[in-house]
Amino acid sequence: MNLVLLGPPGAGKGTQAVRISKAFGLVHLSSGDILRAERKAKTELGAKAQDYMDRGVLVPDDLILSMMMDHIGRPEAANGFLLDGFPRTLAQAEGLDARLAEKDRKIETVINIEVDDAAVTRRLTGRSTCPKCGRIYHEEFSPPVKAGICDDCGEALTRRKDDSLEVVGQRLKTYHEETKPLIAYYQNGGLLKRVSGEGSVDDVTAAIQEACRR
Ligand code: AP5
Repeated sequence: MNLVLLGPPGAGKGTQAVRISKAFGLVHLSSGDILRAERKAKTELGAKAQDYMDRGVLVPDDLILSMMMDHIGRPEAANGFLLDGFPRTLAQAEGLDARLAEKDRKIETVINIEVDDAAVTRRLTGRSTCPKCGRIYHEEFSPPVKAGICDDCGEALTRRKDDSLEVVGQRLKTYHEETKPLIAYYQNGGLLKRVSGEGSVDDVTAAIQEACRR
């Protein structure tokens, strides 16, 4: 299965992607995580992406499309992939469909995780992440046992620079202007399934699994 998780920033795409990719045996491809790894490795792509990401606006489509097609074309993604954070514009979605069709592949299901702006703002401004294993926490909804320390690897948790209140506002504006039109795109293509992202993490996982089997 080739799956896309759509939704606003902070909808829980990363949290759910880890669980759903494991449940269905898919490779999890997060455009945001890949870009952050490129930045950490100080690559040319990472340097180009840095300013866009820190401002909460989108990295140019051509850079993202070639980066993601490179990962989709790798052997580990041959049996199915889950896209998290990509596509994010109509141009990316159309480019993805065209490039997959050249290889006789396609997107089979798109899950839209629905959460309102106030809830995602609260989630993002309380988020912390383990820089070693990538586990995602929230100070109120899923705190670590020991404040500021990853339960799994004992590493000090970090906060993303783009989770400040100001940048979250810009990311939401970008989402409404550039990414929301994808809901209609995938709805028209008969691929869209809607899931409420406002329940507990376990409830949302169960709802996505159920939607994938429908
Ligand atoms: P990216 O890293 O993709 O960020 P995003 O889409 O804004 O999404 P997030 O990772 O912030 O949120 P999420 O939905 O994964 O939520 P999470 O599970 O962490 O992109 C960052 C930047 O990179 C962009 O701004 C852009 O510049 C660039 N970029 C990336 N892709 C691009 C593309 N395709 N094109 C162009 N540019 C691109 O959860 C959030 C918090 O909520 C956590 O604390 C979590 O614990 C908590 N939480 C999760 N679920 C629940 C729940 N059910 N109840 C309560 N709390 C919950």
